[in-house]
Amino acid sequence: MKVAVSGKGGVGKTLIAGGLARGFAERGFKSMAIDADSSPNLALTLGLTAEEARKIVPLTENKELVDSKTSTGYSGVYNLNFRVDDIIRDYAMKTPLGVDLIVMGTVKAMGSGCMCAPNAIVRALLRHLMVERDEAVVLDLEAGVEHIGRGTAKAVDNLLIVADSNLKSLEIAKHIRDLTSAAEMKQIYLVGNRVMNKTQEEAIKDFAQKNGLEVLTFVPFDQKIIEADMLGETPLKSKENAAVQTIDNICDTLLNKNS
Ligand SMILES: Nc1ncnc2c1ncn2[C@@H]1O[C@H](COP(=O)(O)OP(=O)(O)OP(=O)(O)O)[C@@H](O)[C@H]1O
Ligand SMILES: [Mg+2]
Repeated sequence: MKVAVSGKGGVGKTLIAGGLARGFAERGFKSMAIDADSSPNLALTLGLTAEEARKIVPLTENKELVDSKTSTGYSGVYNLNFRVDDIIRDYAMKTPLGVDLIVMGTVKAMGSGCMCAPNAIVRALLRHLMVERDEAVVLDLEAGVEHIGRGTAKAVDNLLIVADSNLKSLEIAKHIRDLTSAAEMKQIYLVGNRVMNKTQEEAIKDFAQKNGLEVLTFVPFDQKIIEADMLGETPLKSKENAAVQTIDNICDTLLNKNS
């Protein structure tokens, strides 16, 4: 199972990606989370401390990986086979929630020096990662629409688009869906997050209905998540939290839909 989590900035992508990755690990999958945001912070959500998170070497800065996948001897020809097992063994950081974490690092050319090889590796990893039946890969994507190229969309079986009741986040969700549906990816779902009341739920439902988006679930607003984030703790620790429980349930919904 390969799931990507997308949406406008700040809608809850990282919380949901982290919750799914933990959920799959608890259900016996070998669970790998990929932080594909150029300002990565999935590590904290998965229970690492800020100090541990700083020690993670992003894939784009991993010269050994870039060299091993690009040194075929032919210019422009990459050796691009990626198995989850190998990637986990060589490059992942174990997290307290049982998830193996990969941080992509920045994929933008920074003005000096060529980022071509690392960029190709990141795109190729997303596209050519072979995921076995007992493995789950959850991708926390960069905010917005620029990174939802056809390649990324095609690379996953399920795309979750997160939005709250704010019309701007719903419009971006629609834009993401419009960009990806051309990529022949069938399983695209909207997740309504931070829902505080029926009015907000209805607003999301209405927008989804009018625009042909399938709502997977509504995640309630939960103050405990804000509090955990304030303390630098993972909000995923306790499942007594209604939002965390709802996110965990998404794992079963996706497993049913993909069976
Ligand atoms: N259901 C919820 N209830 C309460 N707070 C929430 C909920 N979901 C997310 N939040 C809070 O909203 C903020 C943004 O969440 P998160 O970092 O997961 O969003 P994001 O989409 O990954 O943001 P970015 O685009 O910056 O990567 C965080 O402070 C988080 O604690
Ligand atoms: Mg995020």
